[in-house]
Amino acid sequence: MNKSTKGVVLWFTGLSGSGKSTVADSVYQILKQKDIDCERLDGDTLRENLNEQLGFTEEGRKRNIDIAGFVAKMLSNHGIIVLASFISPYKMQRQKLRKKIDNFHIVHLNAPVEVCERRDVKGLYKKARQGEIDNFTGVSHPYESPQNPDIQLNTDREEIEESVNKVIGFLQDSKYI
Ligand code: ADX
Repeated sequence: MNKSTKGVVLWFTGLSGSGKSTVADSVYQILKQKDIDCERLDGDTLRENLNEQLGFTEEGRKRNIDIAGFVAKMLSNHGIIVLASFISPYKMQRQKLRKKIDNFHIVHLNAPVEVCERRDVKGLYKKARQGEIDNFTGVSHPYESPQNPDIQLNTDREEIEESVNKVIGFLQDSKYI
């Protein structure tokens, strides 16, 4: 397995259904094909396996992101490219991660809530509108958009391939791969 020269954390942030995991998964496949050491972390998986007791209040989300950031840092310290996909709605918390983790870069999946809601891949927006889910991001819980992300992906207008190419291009331009 080739090591990338340095560990990196690409932090995919955006609303549910904005395409975080879809883009991260494709980037992961491309890196794997190049025999580059990488790993995925995402909200659904982490919550299922480590953080199942955490809900979606501000407190629960902050704890979830603290844990995710800790794991991402550990992995990247070993030269791994970490593709972390979390809604991570709070600007302050993302800034905190940036300070703590070397080679930390924010990838903003910038799709408007109307588009994510129209897609409603998991049927959660419908449930949130019907009041079956509390604190749903973009509906009944805030999302603070990053002002200066390292990579901006307009997944409402771009094909997945274009978004994926932007991420790979960033890694190449930054000499990470
Ligand atoms: S975060 O806010 O703590 O960063 P995280 O990315 O881990 O969220 O989890 C988001 C995923 O949890 C969504 O993609 C969705 O599948 C699920 N989910 C369940 N309830 C909610 C909710 N109230 N708000 C947002 N996502 C939710």
